[in-house]
Amino acid sequence: MEMTDVHPDGRITDGDLGIWSDEHIPAFARIIDGVHAHGAKIGIQIAHAGRKAEDAAVPVAPSAIQFPGAPYKMPHALTTSEVQAVVGQFADAARRAVQAGVDALELHGAHGYLIHQFQSPLTNKREDEYGQDLARFGVEVIQAVKKEMPADMPLIFRISAVEYADGGYDIDHAIELSKAYQAAGVDAFHVSSGGEGPAGQRKPGNYPGYQVPFARQIREALQVPVIAVGMLEDPALAQSVIGNEDADLVAIARGMLRDPYWATHAAVALKSNHTSIPQPYIRAY
Ligand SMILES: Cc1cc2nc3c(=O)[nH]c(=O)nc-3n(C[C@H](O)[C@H](O)[C@H](O)COP(=O)(O)O)c2cc1C
Repeated sequence: MEMTDVHPDGRITDGDLGIWSDEHIPAFARIIDGVHAHGAKIGIQIAHAGRKAEDAAVPVAPSAIQFPGAPYKMPHALTTSEVQAVVGQFADAARRAVQAGVDALELHGAHGYLIHQFQSPLTNKREDEYGQDLARFGVEVIQAVKKEMPADMPLIFRISAVEYADGGYDIDHAIELSKAYQAAGVDAFHVSSGGEGPAGQRKPGNYPGYQVPFARQIREALQVPVIAVGMLEDPALAQSVIGNEDADLVAIARGMLRDPYWATHAAVALKSNHTSIPQPYIRAY
């Protein structure tokens, strides 16, 4: 399930999913039970948009630095005790998701949202402990969320491996962050990039598999399972990313929006035995 926010002001817009109240649990449980009834697993992505919250009256952020351009507003720099309260909001959201029955949790530490804002030297100019160590907020969120999860439930962390804005961090910084996050309890990394602001010099080309090299570098540096994402909907390309051990899993986003039967079509294209063709449809294949 898409970015699901831990606080009303953590939504990108008021149209986002939220999980900031126990009253949300039954609605999530209905979706999750429906998915489980068909034999599938389902995870949830837990997040806070920080300074990218467009509809919040006053968005919050590590530092009072505005995301460039409309519709973004000047954010309030969280006090140290407010930062600690947000860590608690992530933990509460994780508890609710577990109670609703999810199989996995993903923390959104990418695309310029709050966790990413803390880990970037462009957006975190704090002088307290959350600024001296750019991984600290993410580490505390991971530790707090882990306490709410069963021991065998995977915690995935989505990370922007490089920033595109001029002066932004590079893959070496992302690897250092990932090491701290892995030590704090992350089981797998979902490797994306950018989102912190308008692109400068370092924007990867818009080619199939453009983020796979980042996934491979984090996998090799940490010996950790990674999910590769980004224009991988050609089944042969997705298969080669797995087969050549660039990544352990692939994520397909827009390809699945265009074709909800993507998994079935990929299984047929790759001549896999593990097709999930509904029994009444078999004659169509
Ligand atoms: C309509 C739409 C909604 C998205 N929502 C999310 C989201 O909630 N969380 C997230 O991490 N990425 C989100 N993304 C980004 C995708 O997860 C993915 O990283 C991106 O689309 C590149 O993969 P693709 O080439 O397979 O589409 C979204 C993308 C689209 C097109």
